[in-house]
Amino acid sequence: MLVIEDLNVYYAKAHVLKNVSLRVSQGEFVSIIGPNGAGKTTLLRTISGLKDGQGRLSFNGAPLPRDPVKVVQLGVIHCPEGRHLFPEMSVKDNLLMGAFRLKNFDPESELEKIYQLFPILRERERQMARTLSGGEQQMLAIGRALMGRPELLLLDEPTLGLAPIVRKTIAEALKQINDSGVTILLAEQNVPFALAHAHRVYLLETGVIVKAGTPEEFRADEHVQQVYLGGV
Ligand SMILES: Nc1ncnc2c1ncn2[C@@H]1O[C@H](COP(=O)(O)OP(=O)(O)OP(=O)(O)O)[C@@H](O)[C@H]1O
Ligand SMILES: [Mg+2]
Repeated sequence: MLVIEDLNVYYAKAHVLKNVSLRVSQGEFVSIIGPNGAGKTTLLRTISGLKDGQGRLSFNGAPLPRDPVKVVQLGVIHCPEGRHLFPEMSVKDNLLMGAFRLKNFDPESELEKIYQLFPILRERERQMARTLSGGEQQMLAIGRALMGRPELLLLDEPTLGLAPIVRKTIAEALKQINDSGVTILLAEQNVPFALAHAHRVYLLETGVIVKAGTPEEFRADEHVQQVYLGGV
């Protein structure tokens, strides 16, 4: 579905993605792990057309447009790091904003799907987004992305600042979303979370993909164990 070949991305003279190549097949759940500053967000922003890059990117066999509006219209929907909700709008209105690319849709039945996945959002429907807890805000950000009916969901660091119990809820929701047919590309530095339901994993370190494999292969890898699964 998504093919990236030899992608190089710069901020001025800083070379932050170096010959990155990766693939995501339809229906897959793929995680990109890596420490702070590795380039995960830059990679997702480049896929979305929010950042320019040099290299080949294609989606469903055609070159990926370098225009974020066109990328969204293809069904590549980005749930950004830091959530970027509309703080002074209600939960319901934030969700409805996510559906802007759809032409004919029944808002109530679309909202119902999100409320089934995250029942707390139904209870909070009329509350302003800024009044939600961090976990609820993350659920809302994911719900808003789903309202655009993604073919490919790009998810950046959804565990940021969340307690283990909330991470578990979100991990289970991601599995359900993937089981329902949505392809997922997750960027995440919480490695146990990233490995939990992924089919395949890439490790990005200072802009270079240094390892690719299955979650089992990652768990068995000494470098991954020492650097990413050591725990404190
Ligand atoms: N707008 C920018 N201008 C200049 N440099 C930037 C910009 N955004 C990111 N960078 C640099 O690019 C590199 C990659 O950053 P990026 O945010 O993609 O990493 P990340 O893997 O998402 O990190 P984190 O886990 O902290 O979110 C870092 O060295 C960062 O300082
Ligand atoms: Mg990031």
